[in-house]
Amino acid sequence: MVFVMNEKHQLETVLDEVREFSPSKEFRAKATISSFDDYRGMYEESIKNPDAFWSKIAEELHWFKKWDKTSNGDDKPVFKWFENGRTNISYNCVDRHLESSFRNKAAIVWEGEPGDHRILTYWDLSREVNKFANVLKKLGVEHGDRVIIYLPMIPDLAISMLACARIGAVHSVIFAGFSSESIKDRVLDCQAKLVITADGSWRRGNVLQLKSIVDKAIQNCDCVKDVIVIQRKPGSSFPCQIQAGRDHWYHRLVDGVSMNCPAEELDSEDMLFLLYTSGTTGKPKGVVHTTGGYMVYTYATAKYVFDLKPEDMFWCTADIGWITGHSYFVYGPLLNGATCLMYEGAPDWPDRGRVWDLIERYGATILYTAPTLIRAFMKWGNEWPAKYDLSTLRLLGTVGEPINPEAWMWYHETIGEGKCPIVDTWWQTETGGIMITPLPGCTVTKPGSATLPFFGIDADVLNEDGQSSQAGILAIKKPWPGMLRGIYGDPQRFKESYWSKWPDIYFPGDGAKKDANGYFWILGRIDDVVNVSGHRIGTAELESVFVEHEAIAESAVIGVEHEIKGQGLVAFVTAKDGYEVSNDLEIELKDWVTEKIGKFAVPERIIFSADLPKTRSGKIMRRLLRDIADGKALGNVATLADAGVLDALKAKYEED
Ligand code: WTA
Repeated sequence: MVFVMNEKHQLETVLDEVREFSPSKEFRAKATISSFDDYRGMYEESIKNPDAFWSKIAEELHWFKKWDKTSNGDDKPVFKWFENGRTNISYNCVDRHLESSFRNKAAIVWEGEPGDHRILTYWDLSREVNKFANVLKKLGVEHGDRVIIYLPMIPDLAISMLACARIGAVHSVIFAGFSSESIKDRVLDCQAKLVITADGSWRRGNVLQLKSIVDKAIQNCDCVKDVIVIQRKPGSSFPCQIQAGRDHWYHRLVDGVSMNCPAEELDSEDMLFLLYTSGTTGKPKGVVHTTGGYMVYTYATAKYVFDLKPEDMFWCTADIGWITGHSYFVYGPLLNGATCLMYEGAPDWPDRGRVWDLIERYGATILYTAPTLIRAFMKWGNEWPAKYDLSTLRLLGTVGEPINPEAWMWYHETIGEGKCPIVDTWWQTETGGIMITPLPGCTVTKPGSATLPFFGIDADVLNEDGQSSQAGILAIKKPWPGMLRGIYGDPQRFKESYWSKWPDIYFPGDGAKKDANGYFWILGRIDDVVNVSGHRIGTAELESVFVEHEAIAESAVIGVEHEIKGQGLVAFVTAKDGYEVSNDLEIELKDWVTEKIGKFAVPERIIFSADLPKTRSGKIMRRLLRDIADGKALGNVATLADAGVLDALKAKYEED
């Protein structure tokens, strides 16, 4: 079994962890599930009889026509859920609440980086979503068409997703930190007909020119017929080019449009969205999620994991461009009628107290964020949260990467003031929703453990042979409603990536350990995916970007432990003959990665080397590179074609 290099260290850290925390009496008193026996009972029922379990939950939502069969595995590994049911997730997120007392409740409470703000009630959201859906129709967008959304964290992002879902168009949101090249690849892969973007966005006091990034991306994409441009600041535009015939200001398109657009009665298995994520090969994969199963799963997980109450102010800090924002900013919370806090900018702008200031001013009750940010907060110092009143917080959550016990404890004590349960939630783009997690009112938590599986999730730790074991590889042994249905346009890759390790068992690609109480400790990726600040980056993807550069012959990229980001990237590259290795080349390569993927994928370090250590068959020995980067004693180098290479590399690494 191959672990990423920091796994051993983590294993040691988490194995030593003995602290346990029970939910407080006050929390328990109001919790939806407050007894561990209730969780156990429901869990066992959900595993024994998943169809009955999920049917019951699905009935809490609106269906135009009830399903015939709850789950169908005739076409394995593609599963169908709520077969032949007809529903609409946009209807369930919005219209369903208009008949209730939630009609005038805030759905989205938004603050821009400069401090401008906007509050949309469920009624307001309904009006905006309906109008946006009519604008899409006006441009000829139809059921099944793919729509790329490249927007900052402004309410229009959620509105445009719900508008697509309303008419059965497939949205594919691209995180606004991705470059033109990345957008182009995604647009072409899914043959998008329309792109939705904004004239700009604020980030650390600067304007990010999103429209010009889109212009560059789609200049040779014939599939794109129209671009909708949203004014970030109503009434005044940031300078940008509008190409006649192709580009349209949203505020002009929407002028006079009806605020009634009935939600399409969609099939449960109609595609809801595509979200591109990194895998082990050079090309990002378009993870496919469909309507009914994803809806039921995000609804149920949001309801139970965040113990949502009508009075909650829920803040999921993830950008909607990643799956966390899809499932726990937009769909899960809105399906539950929650009030969501949304913030456009950087957490340290204008100062390092911004997050705590937002919590105080809006009275946030639940904070769901990433360990990376928690570690950054720790580094910035306790004086920042200490300046603010955080007493409204009642529940904390983390997602995206393993949380080290030290960061967990800091979050618990400094932010939660010892009274807020922490839900450390393990899941993936592919799983659609949270899979392994505490339930805050009943699970005893241990710092660094995601604890136990959610309802319906048959999780285990297996060895290479598929035998249950204490330490090994995480595996999911039964289908669940939120599971991905495929990789867009690549059924073969879908099978190979997730279903070929063991028959009929989902392979997520994470190493894990199970303790004596059956608690799961997720140790990180075991494949060539690196989790930088909770963002997945495929090392193969980055390597192919390097070798596309005219000066680079070969490259190997590895993940290394990073104090704040969890993992950082180190690239070993060999220059082609005739190219001078210099600081300038290093800067050029970093700019190259920014241009090809985005700034977040730029490695911490680029190490030039005359050669890379290889086996006799020519395979790059990543394990050795990891050891070098880790400063570890070197293992057996006998298989190296030229053992001298390694010594030279090691010396080079240590001298930098
Ligand atoms: C990692 C993010 C440990 C894991 C929702 C997984 C975690 C990858 C946790 C998916 C956690 C996510 N503890 N590791 N609580 N949550 N991961 O697709 O390696 O962006 O495979 O989805 O993040 O990343 P993705």
